[in-house]
Amino acid sequence: MTEQLFSAASEVDRAFLFILAFAVGALVLVTALMLYFSWRYHHTRNPEAVEIPGSLGLELLWTILPTAIVMAMFWFGWTSFKAMRTVPEGAMEVGVEARMWSWAFTYPGGRRSAELVVPVGGDVKLAMTSRDVIHSFYVPALRLKMDTVPGLTTTAWFNIAAPGEFDILCAEYCGLKHANMITTLRAVPEEDFRQWLAGADAASARAGELFSAYGCTACHDLGGGQGLGPPLDALGGRTGDVLLPDGGRRRITVDADYLRRAMLDPGAEIAEGYEAMMPSYQDQIPEADLEAMIRWMLTGDTAGPPPGRELAEAEGCMSCHSTDGSSIAGPSFRDLAGSVRRVRDQSGAVHEVVADDAYLGQSILDPGALVVEGETPIMPEYDYLDAEQVARLVEYIRSLGPGGGAQP
Ligand code: CUA
Repeated sequence: MTEQLFSAASEVDRAFLFILAFAVGALVLVTALMLYFSWRYHHTRNPEAVEIPGSLGLELLWTILPTAIVMAMFWFGWTSFKAMRTVPEGAMEVGVEARMWSWAFTYPGGRRSAELVVPVGGDVKLAMTSRDVIHSFYVPALRLKMDTVPGLTTTAWFNIAAPGEFDILCAEYCGLKHANMITTLRAVPEEDFRQWLAGADAASARAGELFSAYGCTACHDLGGGQGLGPPLDALGGRTGDVLLPDGGRRRITVDADYLRRAMLDPGAEIAEGYEAMMPSYQDQIPEADLEAMIRWMLTGDTAGPPPGRELAEAEGCMSCHSTDGSSIAGPSFRDLAGSVRRVRDQSGAVHEVVADDAYLGQSILDPGALVVEGETPIMPEYDYLDAEQVARLVEYIRSLGPGGGAQP
């Protein structure tokens, strides 16, 4: 099965199958002999015990045969180990950073991502480390597993022969949310990979993700097709008639205001020819996402920096901070901005502070300085983020309320 996917993986399978076949063979042989001997040498058939003084031939056989088998196992194991350890020259190096409880991948050129995207047929070398405790990078489909250790760089490599999506797991118990350390390895054609790496597809893919994340694509097409609702692409500047609840009609030009109304209060103006069946998205979509979706519908705009949500996902914030008020391992982002927090400083004194921009920014860069009472100080420092990135994250947290807030 893995023959076509990754050559070293099939070596691992071969070693595994060889050992399994030998173990099954030995089990069958030993069991059969045991049954045969207890029948053949039962005292009714073999009343006189016979002493056997020794047999050079047999001793040689049971020494040489197992040695040969073990050497064969070693050979299979060694060749697969060598295939997995020998990184081909010119492999693209991707940095892997594990932390409680997410993965971050860094590409040549600096692009960071929470998913591992690789080109089909390309040699990929992973240089792995951890920010906190020992994790283990595990891709079952590739038979690839390697510990990530703080202060140490471990390596692995692979080459995926066909496009596909594979699970990446953490295979080392690393605390409360160990099971959250799941992400995706996506193998895409070389051309798509280059576009992805350049970030050219980021905004449009992100728009697509947003529309599907909020369920829009169940009824709306993003490519001009007809659905239960109107298509959502290239709407900027279009004119059309909308029906009002009182039976009247009005001519509108699609602009940002109209799209905002159409999402937050869809029943107030129904595009002609469609049913009034869309639910309101009032308080359902954070402001930053709403703006990104509107911008995409108007202009198909794929430029501009990705909003804070994407950065928060890429940096792994979402594995510990919810957006719906529930507690995962850290405080929820929901209604966090502007709230009053009881925090303990490094001297142990407790203060009340307002979670303003400065506090949020400091909490990202140096989370240990002020720890919310009752929380365990386990958050890693994000001191490698620049001021612009911190501001973007703070803005995202601010978009989640209070007041202006919305769900995920
Ligand atoms: Cu990381 Cu388990």
